[in-house]
Amino acid sequence: MDSAQRVPRHIAIVMDGNGRWAKKRFMPRFVGHKFGVDALVGVVKACADRGVEYVTVFAFSSENWKRPAEEVSGLMSLAISTVSKHLTKMVGEGVRIRIVGDRSHVAPAVRAALERAEESTRHNTRINLSVAFNYGGRWDVVQACQKAIADGVAPEALDEATLSRYMAMSFAPDPDLFIRTGGEKRVSNFLLWQAAYSEFVFSDCLWPDFGEAELDAALADYARRDRRFGLVSSADAAALAKA
Ligand code: IPE
Ligand code: IPE
Ligand code: MG
Repeated sequence: MDSAQRVPRHIAIVMDGNGRWAKKRFMPRFVGHKFGVDALVGVVKACADRGVEYVTVFAFSSENWKRPAEEVSGLMSLAISTVSKHLTKMVGEGVRIRIVGDRSHVAPAVRAALERAEESTRHNTRINLSVAFNYGGRWDVVQACQKAIADGVAPEALDEATLSRYMAMSFAPDPDLFIRTGGEKRVSNFLLWQAAYSEFVFSDCLWPDFGEAELDAALADYARRDRRFGLVSSADAAALAKA
Protein backbone atom coordinates (compact mmCIF):
# COMPACT_ATOMS: atom_id res chain seq x y z
CA MET A 1 0.00 0.00 0.00
CA ASP A 2 1.57 3.35 -0.88
CA SER A 3 1.43 6.17 1.65
CA ALA A 4 -1.51 7.91 -0.06
CA GLN A 5 -3.62 4.80 0.56
CA ARG A 6 -2.77 4.41 4.23
CA VAL A 7 -5.75 6.51 5.24
CA PRO A 8 -8.89 4.77 3.98
CA ARG A 9 -11.08 6.90 1.74
CA HIS A 10 -14.20 5.12 2.97
CA ILE A 11 -14.89 3.52 6.36
CA ALA A 12 -17.99 1.43 7.00
CA ILE A 13 -18.98 0.83 10.62
CA VAL A 14 -21.37 -1.63 12.28
CA MET A 15 -21.99 0.31 15.49
CA ASP A 16 -22.75 -2.68 17.70
CA GLY A 17 -22.83 -3.14 21.45
CA ASN A 18 -25.10 -0.33 22.67
CA GLY A 19 -27.45 -2.68 24.52
CA ARG A 20 -24.65 -4.52 26.31
CA TRP A 21 -22.98 -1.22 27.22
CA ALA A 22 -26.18 -0.14 28.99
CA LYS A 23 -26.75 -3.54 30.59
CA LYS A 24 -23.28 -3.47 32.14
CA ARG A 25 -24.35 -0.23 33.83
CA PHE A 26 -27.76 -1.59 34.91
CA MET A 27 -29.46 0.87 32.61
CA PRO A 28 -32.13 0.34 29.93
CA ARG A 29 -30.85 -0.49 26.42
CA PHE A 30 -32.14 2.83 25.18
CA VAL A 31 -29.50 4.67 27.24
CA GLY A 32 -26.85 2.75 25.31
CA HIS A 33 -28.34 3.93 22.03
CA LYS A 34 -28.28 7.53 23.27
CA PHE A 35 -24.62 7.35 24.18
CA GLY A 36 -24.05 5.59 20.87
CA VAL A 37 -25.17 8.73 19.06
CA ASP A 38 -22.56 10.78 20.95
CA ALA A 39 -19.88 8.27 19.94
CA LEU A 40 -20.97 8.61 16.32
CA VAL A 41 -20.72 12.40 16.39
CA GLY A 42 -17.18 12.16 17.80
CA VAL A 43 -16.07 9.51 15.30
CA VAL A 44 -17.34 11.49 12.30
CA LYS A 45 -15.35 14.53 13.42
CA ALA A 46 -12.25 12.41 14.07
CA CYS A 47 -12.55 10.83 10.62
CA ALA A 48 -12.84 14.24 8.97
CA ASP A 49 -9.74 15.43 10.87
CA ARG A 50 -7.82 12.40 9.56
CA GLY A 51 -8.76 12.96 5.92
CA VAL A 52 -11.33 10.16 5.57
CA GLU A 53 -13.79 11.14 2.82
CA TYR A 54 -16.70 8.76 3.49
CA VAL A 55 -18.08 7.18 6.65
CA THR A 56 -21.04 4.83 6.38
CA VAL A 57 -22.68 3.62 9.57
CA PHE A 58 -25.23 0.90 10.23
CA ALA A 59 -27.87 2.64 12.36
CA PHE A 60 -30.90 0.37 11.89
CA SER A 61 -31.03 -2.87 9.96
CA SER A 62 -33.94 -4.35 8.06
CA GLU A 63 -33.94 -7.09 10.72
CA ASN A 64 -33.98 -4.69 13.69
CA TRP A 65 -37.78 -4.26 13.26
CA LYS A 66 -38.06 -7.67 14.94
CA ARG A 67 -36.82 -6.25 18.27
CA PRO A 68 -39.36 -5.51 21.03
CA ALA A 69 -41.76 -2.73 19.95
CA GLU A 70 -40.59 -0.50 22.77
CA GLU A 71 -36.97 -0.61 21.56
CA VAL A 72 -37.97 -0.03 17.92
CA SER A 73 -40.06 2.99 18.81
CA GLY A 74 -37.27 4.29 21.05
CA LEU A 75 -34.83 4.05 18.15
CA MET A 76 -37.26 5.85 15.83
CA SER A 77 -37.70 8.67 18.36
CA LEU A 78 -33.94 8.80 18.80
CA ALA A 79 -33.50 9.30 15.04
CA ILE A 80 -35.77 12.35 15.22
CA SER A 81 -34.18 13.84 18.36
CA THR A 82 -30.67 13.23 17.00
CA VAL A 83 -31.44 15.32 13.94
CA SER A 84 -32.84 18.12 16.14
CA LYS A 85 -29.86 18.03 18.48
CA HIS A 86 -26.94 17.63 16.08
CA LEU A 87 -27.95 18.93 12.65
CA THR A 88 -26.77 22.52 13.13
CA LYS A 89 -23.36 21.29 14.26
CA MET A 90 -23.11 18.88 11.33
CA VAL A 91 -23.97 21.65 8.89
CA GLY A 92 -21.27 23.84 10.46
CA GLU A 93 -18.67 21.09 10.33
CA GLY A 94 -19.12 20.46 6.61
CA VAL A 95 -20.68 16.99 6.97
CA ARG A 96 -22.83 15.87 4.06
CA ILE A 97 -25.45 13.41 5.26
CA ARG A 98 -27.14 10.80 3.11
CA ILE A 99 -29.63 8.18 4.21
CA VAL A 100 -29.34 4.75 2.61
CA GLY A 101 -32.02 2.10 2.98
CA ASP A 102 -35.65 1.40 2.27
CA ARG A 103 -37.43 4.63 3.21
CA SER A 104 -40.81 3.44 2.05
CA HIS A 105 -41.51 1.65 5.34
CA VAL A 106 -40.16 4.31 7.66
CA ALA A 107 -42.80 6.37 9.52
CA PRO A 108 -43.41 9.81 7.94
CA ALA A 109 -42.10 11.81 10.93
CA VAL A 110 -38.85 9.83 11.01
CA ARG A 111 -38.44 10.03 7.27
CA ALA A 112 -39.04 13.79 7.34
CA ALA A 113 -36.32 14.27 9.97
CA LEU A 114 -33.84 12.14 8.03
CA GLU A 115 -34.61 13.94 4.79
CA ARG A 116 -34.19 17.28 6.52
CA ALA A 117 -30.68 16.19 7.49
CA GLU A 118 -29.96 15.30 3.86
CA GLU A 119 -31.41 18.50 2.51
CA SER A 120 -29.68 20.84 4.99
CA THR A 121 -26.26 19.31 4.36
CA ARG A 122 -26.37 18.76 0.64
CA HIS A 123 -23.85 21.49 -0.18
CA ASN A 124 -21.33 20.26 2.38
CA THR A 125 -18.12 18.70 1.09
CA ARG A 126 -15.74 18.09 4.01
CA ILE A 127 -16.86 14.54 4.78
CA ASN A 128 -19.71 12.29 3.62
CA LEU A 129 -21.70 10.54 6.32
CA SER A 130 -24.07 7.86 5.07
CA VAL A 131 -26.53 6.55 7.61
CA ALA A 132 -27.87 3.09 6.78
CA PHE A 133 -31.39 3.11 8.12
CA ASN A 134 -33.79 0.27 7.41
CA TYR A 135 -30.93 -1.05 5.32
CA GLY A 136 -30.04 -4.61 4.42
CA GLY A 137 -27.37 -5.75 1.99
CA ARG A 138 -29.77 -8.24 0.40
CA TRP A 139 -32.44 -5.57 0.06
CA ASP A 140 -29.85 -3.41 -1.69
CA VAL A 141 -29.04 -6.07 -4.31
CA VAL A 142 -32.74 -6.76 -4.91
CA GLN A 143 -33.71 -3.08 -5.21
CA ALA A 144 -30.80 -2.49 -7.62
CA CYS A 145 -31.99 -5.38 -9.83
CA GLN A 146 -35.56 -4.09 -9.71
CA LYS A 147 -34.47 -0.59 -10.78
CA ALA A 148 -32.29 -1.95 -13.58
CA ILE A 149 -35.18 -4.06 -14.89
CA ALA A 150 -37.57 -1.11 -14.64
CA ASP A 151 -35.06 0.94 -16.65
CA GLY A 152 -35.16 -1.69 -19.38
CA VAL A 153 -31.58 -2.93 -18.93
CA ALA A 154 -31.30 -6.11 -21.02
CA PRO A 155 -30.15 -9.26 -19.13
CA GLU A 156 -26.94 -9.50 -21.18
CA ALA A 157 -26.17 -5.83 -20.43
CA LEU A 158 -26.50 -6.33 -16.67
CA ASP A 159 -22.83 -6.55 -15.70
CA GLU A 160 -21.18 -5.61 -12.39
CA ALA A 161 -20.52 -1.99 -13.37
CA THR A 162 -24.13 -1.51 -14.47
CA LEU A 163 -25.61 -3.04 -11.34
CA SER A 164 -23.25 -0.95 -9.18
CA ARG A 165 -24.87 2.17 -10.56
CA TYR A 166 -28.21 1.06 -9.11
CA MET A 167 -26.87 0.15 -5.67
CA ALA A 168 -27.71 2.41 -2.72
CA MET A 169 -24.05 3.47 -2.28
CA SER A 170 -23.41 4.25 -5.95
CA PHE A 171 -22.20 7.76 -5.03
CA ALA A 172 -19.23 6.45 -3.03
CA PRO A 173 -16.18 4.27 -3.62
CA ASP A 174 -16.41 0.83 -2.00
CA PRO A 175 -15.43 0.83 1.70
CA ASP A 176 -11.70 0.30 2.22
CA LEU A 177 -12.08 -0.42 5.91
CA PHE A 178 -15.04 -2.18 7.56
CA ILE A 179 -15.15 -1.88 11.35
CA ARG A 180 -17.50 -3.79 13.62
CA THR A 181 -17.52 -3.00 17.32
CA GLY A 182 -19.16 -5.05 20.06
CA GLY A 183 -17.11 -8.22 19.69
CA GLU A 184 -19.23 -10.12 17.15
CA LYS A 185 -17.42 -11.24 14.02
CA ARG A 186 -20.14 -11.11 11.44
CA VAL A 187 -21.47 -8.81 8.73
CA SER A 188 -25.17 -8.95 9.76
CA ASN A 189 -26.41 -8.03 6.27
CA PHE A 190 -24.52 -4.74 6.01
CA LEU A 191 -22.83 -3.74 2.73
CA LEU A 192 -22.68 -7.21 1.17
CA TRP A 193 -21.96 -6.10 -2.39
CA GLN A 194 -19.73 -3.14 -1.54
CA ALA A 195 -17.53 -4.90 1.04
CA ALA A 196 -16.21 -7.48 -1.43
CA TYR A 197 -12.64 -6.23 -0.91
CA SER A 198 -12.91 -4.27 2.33
CA GLU A 199 -10.38 -4.86 5.10
CA PHE A 200 -12.18 -6.00 8.27
CA VAL A 201 -11.39 -4.86 11.79
CA PHE A 202 -13.40 -6.41 14.62
CA SER A 203 -13.17 -4.57 17.92
CA ASP A 204 -14.33 -5.82 21.31
CA CYS A 205 -15.05 -2.23 22.30
CA LEU A 206 -18.77 -1.59 22.79
CA TRP A 207 -19.89 1.17 20.43
CA PRO A 208 -20.58 3.95 23.03
CA ASP A 209 -16.95 3.55 24.19
CA PHE A 210 -15.50 3.82 20.68
CA GLY A 211 -13.49 7.03 20.43
CA GLU A 212 -10.36 8.46 18.84
CA ALA A 213 -7.99 5.91 20.41
CA GLU A 214 -10.03 2.98 19.07
CA LEU A 215 -10.36 4.63 15.67
CA ASP A 216 -6.61 5.21 15.48
CA ALA A 217 -5.97 1.57 16.42
CA ALA A 218 -8.25 0.45 13.57
CA LEU A 219 -6.52 2.85 11.16
CA ALA A 220 -3.09 1.57 12.21
CA ASP A 221 -4.24 -2.02 11.67
CA TYR A 222 -5.60 -1.06 8.25
CA ALA A 223 -2.34 0.66 7.26
CA ARG A 224 -0.46 -2.60 7.83
CA ARG A 225 -2.70 -4.67 5.56
CA ASP A 226 -1.52 -5.92 2.20
CA ARG A 227 -4.47 -5.34 -0.14
CA ARG A 228 -3.96 -7.69 -3.06
CA PHE A 229 -7.41 -7.72 -4.71
CA GLY A 230 -6.74 -11.21 -6.00
CA LEU A 231 -3.38 -10.27 -7.47
CA VAL A 232 0.02 -11.52 -6.34
CA SER A 233 1.16 -8.36 -4.55
CA SER A 234 -0.32 -5.07 -3.41
CA ALA A 235 2.19 -3.27 -5.68
CA ASP A 236 0.69 -5.05 -8.72
CA ALA A 237 -2.79 -4.10 -7.52
CA ALA A 238 -1.79 -0.43 -7.11
CA ALA A 239 -0.16 -0.34 -10.56
CA LEU A 240 -3.28 -1.83 -12.10
CA ALA A 241 -5.51 0.71 -10.35
CA LYS A 242 -3.42 3.57 -11.77
CA ALA A 243 -3.30 2.14 -15.33
C1 IPE B 1 -26.37 -1.67 17.93
O1 IPE B 1 -26.35 -2.01 19.28
C2 IPE B 1 -27.42 -0.65 17.61
C3 IPE B 1 -28.57 -1.16 16.86
C4 IPE B 1 -28.69 -2.37 16.39
C5 IPE B 1 -29.66 -0.24 16.64
P1 IPE B 1 -27.25 -3.19 19.82
O2 IPE B 1 -28.58 -2.66 20.21
O3 IPE B 1 -27.30 -4.31 18.82
O4 IPE B 1 -26.44 -3.62 21.11
P2 IPE B 1 -26.15 -5.10 21.61
O5 IPE B 1 -25.53 -5.85 20.47
O6 IPE B 1 -27.47 -5.69 22.00
O7 IPE B 1 -25.23 -4.92 22.75
C1 IPE C 1 -26.25 -4.89 13.31
O1 IPE C 1 -26.26 -5.17 14.65
C2 IPE C 1 -27.16 -3.73 13.01
C3 IPE C 1 -26.74 -2.43 13.53
C4 IPE C 1 -25.64 -2.15 14.17
C5 IPE C 1 -27.66 -1.36 13.24
P1 IPE C 1 -27.22 -6.28 15.29
O2 IPE C 1 -27.00 -6.22 16.73
O3 IPE C 1 -28.59 -6.07 14.80
O4 IPE C 1 -26.65 -7.62 14.65
P2 IPE C 1 -26.76 -9.13 15.16
O5 IPE C 1 -28.19 -9.37 15.51
O6 IPE C 1 -25.87 -9.25 16.36
O7 IPE C 1 -26.27 -9.95 14.02
MG1 MG D 1 -26.15 -5.96 18.53
